[in-house]
Formats: sequence, structure tokens, C-alpha cells
Amino acid sequence: MRINSEYRSQSLLELLALKTFVERLRACSVPQDALTWSRFFGALLLVLLVLLFLSGAFLSLYYSPVPGAAYDSVDFVLFNLPFGAVVKGIHHYAWNLLLVVMGLHLMRAFILGAYKAPRQLVWISGVVIMLIVPLFIITGDLLPWDQKGYWSTQVRLSIIGTVPVLGDLFVRLLQGGPLTGIVALTRFYVLHILFLPGVLIFLIAVHFHLIAHRGLSEPLSDGSLPRLKIPFLPDMVNRWLVLFLLVTIILGFISWYWPPPLGDPADPTDSTYVPKPEWWVLFLNQLVAIFKGSLTVIGSAVVPGLLAGLLIALPFLDRSPERNIRKRKMVVVIASIIIVSMLVLSVMGYIEHFGEPHPE
Ligand code: HEM
Repeated sequence: MRINSEYRSQSLLELLALKTFVERLRACSVPQDALTWSRFFGALLLVLLVLLFLSGAFLSLYYSPVPGAAYDSVDFVLFNLPFGAVVKGIHHYAWNLLLVVMGLHLMRAFILGAYKAPRQLVWISGVVIMLIVPLFIITGDLLPWDQKGYWSTQVRLSIIGTVPVLGDLFVRLLQGGPLTGIVALTRFYVLHILFLPGVLIFLIAVHFHLIAHRGLSEPLSDGSLPRLKIPFLPDMVNRWLVLFLLVTIILGFISWYWPPPLGDPADPTDSTYVPKPEWWVLFLNQLVAIFKGSLTVIGSAVVPGLLAGLLIALPFLDRSPERNIRKRKMVVVIASIIIVSMLVLSVMGYIEHFGEPHPE
């Protein structure tokens, strides 16, 4: 029986002209420490991305990018389509989790000095990915055409507009006119489902290509021991598949019991609506709020730009081969100051937007 099924799968692979490809994959090996739990975040990110693409593809079957109709189509998926709320919930919870896991993946690479030579470009490709991901959220937020998405977009566009020289141009390119209407919605939709995924898939391919060529960083503890290898197929691929199933089931259950939110339909004439910022932009919102008037650009462009530049330049600023965190006091102090400042700004933002209102 077994010989028969093996023979069948062999000839199927030949028929599909995939035999050499699978054989080449089978010949690939990765260090055994690729399966350690501290590398869990990289695999989880990959799984979340696949889930986002799959759930997004299903949602796009029902979505209609026209103001008004957009809201009805999302409402239909949430409340009338069997399992629609689960698919939409998986999409919603997966991007929230993706942001958290991306932060943890970055912290791990930072703490273990995985950004150092020869992996500088692995780090830089990761930072670029991290800068692209929020664009998915910004473009996706407008798509349901509800009050929160519409007015959050107005806030974001007005912040982008404060960026000198390019700000206005960006806003006009994004909106396709002076107002957020049908052209803007079409552009946000096409960016969300076509351009940004294309860029992201390319960047992930670059990230993986660089990891394959530069190798995973060696474990810090037992450098003297020989590094054992395991086959990429099936060991690594199996780990990813199990993780994919687990995450799908867990997010599916969460979405079933706590369906994703949908506010009231967007009303562009109701300028009394004040959108509350999402958790991941609380610190940026607060930064923009601190610098008022002509200084707004410091919070909207200068500080975020400097932070992004610092992250990209990190492997070139910290060039010593030392990877032990206890012996890298300088970078740890600077990183701690940045992280604590971000946390303080986020807490301030949370209190301002979600705290008890003061009695008049
Ligand atoms: C969705 C985005 C991302 C995916 C799918 C992804 C995936 C992965 C995977 C599977 C690995 C190998 C296993 C591991 O060490 O975890 C890895 C390694 C790495 N990633 Fe990412 N990553 C992403 C974003 C990032 C970001 C934002 C950064 C940092 C700015 C980053 C920096 C690195 C570094 C430096 C390594 C090498 C780790 C080592 O050799 O020990 N990645 N990534």
C-alpha cells in the first residue's frame, strides 16, 4: 500500500514538474536551533501574514469600494454571511497580533544582537517591513466606511499634510481630490489589496533570501558545541503548518465569541465625531499633540523620521561584534530611554482619550 501511494505521489510530482523543486527543498537544512522557542516570533509572523492574506481574499469577494455600499457590504459579511464574522474577526485580530509579535521579534533580534554583521541587511529589510505594515492599517481603516474609519482618516490626512514639501502632495495623491470620497476609497482599496501586498511579499522574500544566505545567528550560550542541522522539509515546514492550524483555531474562536467592531455608517457632515486613536498610534498621536502650531512637524515627521533612521542605521552605529546584552550598556540605555518614552506617551494618550471625562 505504502509503496503504491509513494509511487503515485512521485509520478504526480513528475507530472506537475515539481520533482526537482521538492528534491531541492528536501536537500535544504537549517540549524536545529531554528526550532527553539525564542525563534517562535518569526514563524508566528509568517503564519499571521498568510492568515491575513487568506481572510482578506475572502472578504474582498463581498466588499464593494463605493461609499455607502461599502458599509452595507461589510455589515452583510458581519451579520448575514455564515461565518462571515469569523473570517472578518480573524483578519481584525491577526493584524493587531501581528503588530505585537513584530515588536517582540524586533526586541529578540535586538537583545541577542542578531542585527550585527553579517546580518545587517536582514535587520534593515525587517525595519522596512515594519514601516510598511502600518500603511495596511491606515488604508484598511477607511474601507468599512464607518464613522471611526472615516474620521480617523481625516485626522491622519491632516497630520500627513503637516509634513513640509511632500505632505500636501501625498494627501492629494492618496485622496485623488480635495475630499475623501469615491476616488479616495478606490485608491485606499487598491493600495490595500494590490500595491501594498505586492511590496510586502517582495520585502518578505528579500528578508528570507537574506536569512538563508547570511544564516541564523549562533546561539549565545554554547558556541563551542557543534551546531546540529535538521531538514527544512519536513521539520521546519511541519512546525509552520501546526502553528498555522493552532493560530487559525484560536483566532477563529476569539472572533466567534467577540466579533470585530463596526460603528455607525460614515457621515462626512458630522464633524462633531472625535475618533479615538488605536492603541498602536497612541504614542504618535500624543507626540503630535505635544508640538502645536508651526512646531507640529516635529511630532509628525522629525521625531518619527529620526526614530526610523536610527533603527535602520543601528547595525552601522553599533559595529562591535559583542552580542552579549550585559556588555552592550550604551545601546541598551538608549533603547530603554526610547521604549520608556514611547510607553509614557502611550499612557498619556490613553488617559487623554479613554480616561474618565472631567466634570465640567
Ligand atoms: C512580517 C514580518 C516578518 C516576518 C514574517 C519575519 C520572519 C522571520 C523569520 C521566519 C526569521 C527566522 C527565524 C527567527 O529568527 O525568528 C526571521 C529572522 C530575523 N528577522 Fe524577521 N520577520 C519579519 C519582520 C522583522 C522585523 C520587523 C525585524 C526587525 C526590525 C526583523 C529582523 C530579523 C532578524 C535580525 C532576523 C535574524 C535573527 C537571527 O539570525 O537570530 N524581522 N524573521
